[in-house]
Amino acid sequence: MCGIFGAASSSHVHKDLIEGLSKLEYRGYDSAGLTLISKSNKIKRLRCTGKVVALKKLLATNNLMGNCGIAHTRWATHGVPNLKNSHPHNYGGFSIVHNGIIENFEEIKTFLSKKSHKFSSDTDSEVIAHLLEYFSKKHSKLSDILLNTFKKLKGSFALGIVYEKDPDKIIVASNGSPLLIGMGKNANYISSDINALISKTKKYISLDDNEFGIITKDKIELFNVKGKRIKRSASVTKQNTNAISKNGYKHFMQKEIFEQKDIITRVIKDKLGTSKILPNIFGPKSDSMLKSIKHVHFVACGTSYNASLVAKYWIEEVSDIMCTAEIASEYRYRTINVPKDTLFVAISQSGETADTIYSLKKAKQSKYRSILSICNVAESTITRLSDYSYLMQAGPEVSVASTKAFTSQLIALLLLATTLSRASDSKLESKIINQIKSLPRILSKTFELEKKMQLIAKQFKNKNHTLFLGRGASYPIALEAALKLKEISYIHAEGYAAGELKHGPLALVDKNMPVVGLMPDNNLVTQVLSNLAEVKARQGLVYIFTNKKMKLKKNDKTNIISMPACGHYIAPLVYVIPMQLLSYYVAINKKTNIDQPRNLAKSVTVE
Ligand code: F6R
Repeated sequence: MCGIFGAASSSHVHKDLIEGLSKLEYRGYDSAGLTLISKSNKIKRLRCTGKVVALKKLLATNNLMGNCGIAHTRWATHGVPNLKNSHPHNYGGFSIVHNGIIENFEEIKTFLSKKSHKFSSDTDSEVIAHLLEYFSKKHSKLSDILLNTFKKLKGSFALGIVYEKDPDKIIVASNGSPLLIGMGKNANYISSDINALISKTKKYISLDDNEFGIITKDKIELFNVKGKRIKRSASVTKQNTNAISKNGYKHFMQKEIFEQKDIITRVIKDKLGTSKILPNIFGPKSDSMLKSIKHVHFVACGTSYNASLVAKYWIEEVSDIMCTAEIASEYRYRTINVPKDTLFVAISQSGETADTIYSLKKAKQSKYRSILSICNVAESTITRLSDYSYLMQAGPEVSVASTKAFTSQLIALLLLATTLSRASDSKLESKIINQIKSLPRILSKTFELEKKMQLIAKQFKNKNHTLFLGRGASYPIALEAALKLKEISYIHAEGYAAGELKHGPLALVDKNMPVVGLMPDNNLVTQVLSNLAEVKARQGLVYIFTNKKMKLKKNDKTNIISMPACGHYIAPLVYVIPMQLLSYYVAINKKTNIDQPRNLAKSVTVE
């Protein structure tokens, strides 16, 4: 999704801007641009559709330099991805880059059009530059121009602004969209993403909602919406620069799939004792807070939502706690009932997903016992807003399609379920811990299926549709398998609770339809097998992933993929691995853009 980077420095910043933008590329975007303040204090803008490398070429051709500048990668929301809609947007000496959505932009546009403003793009963002110009005619002090402009904006925004009349300053503002200020030597930086800052500095300040800042190479001033000065101490990120490389893999997704075993091994070392979870892994005093919990409400999007569905199965199985899992974009707009002693849990890899942030803010206004987040980014908005937080420490996930974040979320959620089980079953903890500890060994065996997945992928590459079926906690894994396949291979795929098959989707099954059954050896095997028999009876192509020993009749066209034996609780973590590999290799066969699938963005910072 859109990304912002900017720099004010004692030396030229054009290279920094390109480097910053290239660190934001993984988020997904369709155009890029930058503004530099030239030696003669004029704003000079360059924009291009397509990739940052094209902007870099443009920069070299134009030989543009300056000590202060802002840059942007745009993921189109309002207005198609073309040159005129790319950021920065300029007007009256102001140049702006914007992440988020200005909800009242039509209203502002109408108002300013009546005052003879001519707009040159279809974006919501352009009105910001026009509003700044409008107020600059009414006020001479920069802070007055800014305050009046910000007051008029409704919606979410992270802003980077430069102004010809204050040529050494970058102005930043934030409301509902993240913005960080990196503190360097003789230079300060702005970025919407910590990944773009860490090669410059690890010291940063994050802007909260309704705050703005004025930044020069050696000064950072922060203000609230009333113009009152704010003091904020700097944080230091632990993230390192090396984490964002492919390490010899062809794609980030491939690297991230194969990192999963090591991440789980690290969790085992960091979070588990011999037979117990270490104290307070969900934050200071979290164990005693969790003791009082009677209900859990999970809220998340996409893959993170699928993880929450698995957690619902786990928690209700191991405790007396009632649990709901809900998609954030639904939760944020509906009426909610919060029973006494309910824990709200936001799950988000990025910690910046707009719908999840809004849901969390709504939860903070409701009568929850506590707000817990499970997140991969320490610096994220969701982590900062939560009472308790669990950091997945999976390292940056660069591929748009989430893999290692999903299994890291699952481990965190299994640990949460286990902690919540203590009140009703004191013996379960050591049993689950033993299963978790067996995971690295079992995952090594599971990865041995890679070659098989490459072969199966060839059988999928020309299919138009696929069904994934599972029961119990394998049902959310079927949903996740379908999500992975559709997002990176563009094959239409659906995940279904196997029992739902004959309530509709069976109508789709014919000899061209691959149907994947996820069938860990548990009390649901008979049911899943009878659902798959319904598929076979209609000539569907059946692929069963199972650790149950099964004999096939001669001439049976079913494909059985033998999975390593694994404990009941960890099965979702094991069964998702071949699904990730399958999607990856189908996408390889289809030659799609695996790490940045079309139309998708890594961190969905608009609703
Ligand atoms: C799919 C995927 C998305 C994200 C979703 C939520 O592979 O990655 O569905 O899971 O956009 O993102 P986070 O977890 O960052 O809130």
